[in-house]
Amino acid sequence: MKIIRSVSEMIQVRQQLSGKVGIVPTMGALHEGHISLVQQCRSHSDHVVVSIYVNPLQFGPKEDFDKYPRNLSQDTELLSDEGVDIVFAPEELGEQNSETKVIPGELSTLWCGKNRPQHFEGVLSVITKLFNIISPTDAWFGQKDFQQFRIIEKWVEDFYVPVNLHRAMIVREKMGLAISSRNAYLNLDQKYNAKNIYKSLTAAKSAFMQGETSTKVVLELSKDYLKKMKIEYHAIIDPVTLKPCDKVFIGSVLVLAVKLGQVRLIDNMIFDM
Ligand code: PAJ
Repeated sequence: MKIIRSVSEMIQVRQQLSGKVGIVPTMGALHEGHISLVQQCRSHSDHVVVSIYVNPLQFGPKEDFDKYPRNLSQDTELLSDEGVDIVFAPEELGEQNSETKVIPGELSTLWCGKNRPQHFEGVLSVITKLFNIISPTDAWFGQKDFQQFRIIEKWVEDFYVPVNLHRAMIVREKMGLAISSRNAYLNLDQKYNAKNIYKSLTAAKSAFMQGETSTKVVLELSKDYLKKMKIEYHAIIDPVTLKPCDKVFIGSVLVLAVKLGQVRLIDNMIFDM
């Protein structure tokens, strides 16, 4: 496994690759969720590139950029066990000198974008840089960040980006909590309570499967499990426009962001049968 830390070396190495080049973009602190994307990428690609870069552009001034966990040697050890060919972990991506930004539209103003106005602009800007450096034929992202995936999908569509996107299912702990690097910040009580997030999602889904299609009713049922948390948003949305919908339908999505103490968690569930 090659570990590449400079942009020019990555561009040079890429020029020698042929066939399917898959990328899994990450910010490191890798867990089973990331690894499942890597495994899917591995089984589908001739060459697997995992990028590790804590992207300063997607953190707001009051957010945890400095505190974000970084452990490159542990991450590379994990990736080497998964048969990854290249880890691209640049020191920086020219933030000091660049002035051009990729600005998403309305999709980025909703939900996670409401309180984080520059977040998705930062995500799209770094993805543009990574994709231009690596020219992947395929890229894997998680459904865990449903809005992020949709915004990237729209950017691919709007700018004719020559890449196949793949959305991977959410990997969960035994009791249903979606795996996230932020779970480590939960104390025992909060961790116990966090299990209710999954219960809240599955209660909604089973109501829908039993025939309930009123958004209001389904959200109320689901909200019952979130009593001891601070809800940032909790909605049933259209998967394309990301706007709230009155009726639950196959393909619509329950999205939520909650805070347990200082720890902010996001999760979602697609209504299907
Ligand atoms: P990061 O938070 O490191 O996540 C990298 C990828 O892992 C994302 O596509 C995310 O959706 C996926 N992921 C996280 N938890 C998951 C889980 N429990 N199950 C399945 N997939 C999971 O998302 C980012 O980094 C950044 O915004 C990035 C796209 C790298 C741009 O900087």
